[in-house]
Amino acid sequence: MLIALTGTPGTGKTSLSDAIRTAIDVVHIGDMSECFSGRDDLRDSHIVDLECVETRVCGFSGVVEGHTSHLLRCVDLVVVLRTHPDELRRRLEARGYHHSKICENVEAEAMGLIVSEAVSIHGVEKVVEIDTTGKAVDEVAEIFWKALKTPEDYRPRVDYTEEILKWY
Ligand SMILES: Nc1ncnc2c1ncn2[C@@H]1O[C@H](COP(=O)(O)OP(=O)(O)O)[C@@H](O)[C@H]1O
Ligand SMILES: [Mg+2]
Repeated sequence: MLIALTGTPGTGKTSLSDAIRTAIDVVHIGDMSECFSGRDDLRDSHIVDLECVETRVCGFSGVVEGHTSHLLRCVDLVVVLRTHPDELRRRLEARGYHHSKICENVEAEAMGLIVSEAVSIHGVEKVVEIDTTGKAVDEVAEIFWKALKTPEDYRPRVDYTEEILKWY
């Protein structure tokens, strides 16, 4: 079974990967430099050729981590990490991200962009959601294992869209 571990930058994908990697194989799209097709200077990030990623991970059993992993067609389950926009902002500020990059990511998270992409590509029955807000990484890891066992208990339900209204 191939699991996509996705979420807005700062929601804790890498931290969760580190917590689960002793029990399950994890590959990071961010490490697949052979699949980088260019640079997005505006976002200071790599442009990833997802077809190239698919040729490397499809058929593999484990976790493929990255904020574009839910765009891979061959995954069996998508785990979307969520974080309250205020907490996400604090995490990204602590990372020293540029203001515009923080706003872009916080807005995307508040809108639920990744989870809605995941549901529209894979259908809700293949998507689970874990809210990491106020949770330690170990706690998130525990929920991750539970969600693999009973995905029906972890269907997308987080809604931070009301937070957007507070910004105006
Ligand atoms: N569950 C959590 N609770 C609090 N802080 C977290 C949690 N998970 C990650 N962080 C912190 O948030 C930041 C971003 O986490 P990271 O795992 O790098 O996210 P991502 O890989 O999704 O961009 C890091 O500083 C990390 O220590
Ligand atoms: Mg990361």
